[in-house]
Amino acid sequence: MLSEKIQAALNAQINEEMESALFYLQMAAVSDRLGLPGFVNWFKMQYTEELSHADRFFNYVLERNGEVTLQAIEKPELQDETPLSLFEKALAHENHISKCIFSLKDLAKTESDHATDVFLEWFVNEQVEEEAAAQGVIDQLRLVDGSPNGLFMIDRELAARKPESSEAA
Ligand SMILES: [Fe+2]
Ligand SMILES: [Fe+2]
Repeated sequence: MLSEKIQAALNAQINEEMESALFYLQMAAVSDRLGLPGFVNWFKMQYTEELSHADRFFNYVLERNGEVTLQAIEKPELQDETPLSLFEKALAHENHISKCIFSLKDLAKTESDHATDVFLEWFVNEQVEEEAAAQGVIDQLRLVDGSPNGLFMIDRELAARKPESSEAA
């Protein structure tokens, strides 16, 4: 049985993950305008991953016999983006999501909800990967410093990203 506080926080996190999905899908559209098909692939992959995160929270709430209440999703705010600014925004967004997961985990501890605490472990690890992935691309983009050749190579690399089996779970 979920406490009211935990249930509300888990519901809020479903929305955060849905918002993340929308944000990355918009990023994919912007990348298409920039003529970067590899970036489109990477952001679309990220979009489906975020949907699977929302689904994990959704399933968990139901599994604990809780109630899911979905809220409106904020519109993604993107304008005049460059390849670098897209990934800087992605990293800032993932930092925000990590904070959400950490406060959820703190709440689970205060409420002595051990099951939720353990459930959130997966997300703690996932956020380490999410931040590292965005940071990795930022590092590469800074290295090539806007050179068309460098950008072309990074785009080729991002085109090679395939869905991971753990992400499909
Ligand atoms: Fe996520
Ligand atoms: Fe994420």
